[in-house]
Amino acid sequence: MWHGRFTKDTAKTVQDFTQSLDIDWRMAESDIEGSIAHAKMLGETGILPREESAKIIAGLLKVADEIREGKFIPSESLEDVHMNIEARLTEIEPLGAKLHTARSRNDQVATTTRLYLRKRLQGLRENLRELLRVIVSNAERHISIIIPGYTHMQQAQPVSMGHYWLSWFEAFYRDSQRLDFALSSLNECPLGAGALAGSTLPIDRFMTCETLGFDRPTRNSLDTVANRDYMTDYHYFASVFMIHISRLCNDLITWNSQEFGFIVLPDEFCTGSSMMPQKKNPDVLELARGKAGQVIANLVDLMITLKGLPMTYNRDLQEDKRGLWASVDTVESVMKIIAELLSRVEVDEGLALAGLEKGYSLATDIAEYLVMKGVPFREAHAIVGRLVGWCIAEKIAFEDMTLEQWQEHVPFADAAMMGILTARESVRRRNVYGGTGFDQVRKQIEEAKSRV
Ligand code: ARG
Repeated sequence: MWHGRFTKDTAKTVQDFTQSLDIDWRMAESDIEGSIAHAKMLGETGILPREESAKIIAGLLKVADEIREGKFIPSESLEDVHMNIEARLTEIEPLGAKLHTARSRNDQVATTTRLYLRKRLQGLRENLRELLRVIVSNAERHISIIIPGYTHMQQAQPVSMGHYWLSWFEAFYRDSQRLDFALSSLNECPLGAGALAGSTLPIDRFMTCETLGFDRPTRNSLDTVANRDYMTDYHYFASVFMIHISRLCNDLITWNSQEFGFIVLPDEFCTGSSMMPQKKNPDVLELARGKAGQVIANLVDLMITLKGLPMTYNRDLQEDKRGLWASVDTVESVMKIIAELLSRVEVDEGLALAGLEKGYSLATDIAEYLVMKGVPFREAHAIVGRLVGWCIAEKIAFEDMTLEQWQEHVPFADAAMMGILTARESVRRRNVYGGTGFDQVRKQIEEAKSRV
């Protein structure tokens, strides 16, 4: 089939090298969906008689059944998913030879890929929404637990664990917007662009577009067969998402260590060591962190493939799907397992608080107390800084200082100042929009709920 100008079959080595079944067979159902829309349009526009179009569609449905039942074993000698399906269709229904009227594999592969990717990205949307829900419910569960907040990996100020979880809500929410953008950028219908220039036949591109549920037909046929931006848009979403996942996992890995010990991971999500009986390793978190590299590499891989390509289709583009599926599969599994793990993470309130005590993390609170008494902030900063130096030298914590000792080092020190010197007060009093104050976090939880 399709020999035409050739007098010899493609060499076996070339067949092996050029085939793409290993990466495109998974799109078989989407390919048939696109072909059905195309055949229907050929019938409705009168390019083919209606009965012929109906027979082709019936044949395609049969092929779909065979695929579903696992009866159809595609052959690499037929190169790709598109040719395999068309060849089988034509065996079942000789009118299959008319299906490729006004179509090229270039607009076909673009259509099939968009249809399949759309389904997968809609799935990711659901998985991501579930992750967001879990994070909000963690924020609710842990709102009154106080942990040290860090900058430079140094204890900075105490924060509500609910506030911490919501920081990831914001990051993943932005990811969901990037995912939506990727979905909207893929949702244009390539069918009818042909090999690159459209068709001389009176096809109706709006009709196939509508049948397939795309927002509009693509606007330029050359761009249509060359364009893979919707893939880079997805990859960018995926890369940023995995960067977030990786950072989150890293926090949890650190906090799960003996040295920190704030969080308790569910046993079912950890593994032991083959040698050291005491170990409870956070492998799921480490693997999720580790997989981020591949996902980012897939973005870079596609970008490098695309960067030197002339307008329009070039066979290099066949390689676009390998990294795409690897990435979609990875992102999907990470979303599912991390959501499950997070929903069972517990925080050891006592250890989190104990970690805070010796860190002088209330220093800013004292400086701000002095500011309210009229001390310029720079001066207040210096006063409290000197006090911290003294405390370190004397090996004494803020908590252990008497009022008299406070008064020796800090002007305006009084009982009211002593009253604010707890982590809980420190968190509660950071009552600014977006801050860690419990009331603010509660407000943000409500807002987050309305966003998922
Ligand atoms: N298997 C090809 C791909 O995935 C289909 C398009 C082939 N087009 C061509 N002109 N050889 O890109």
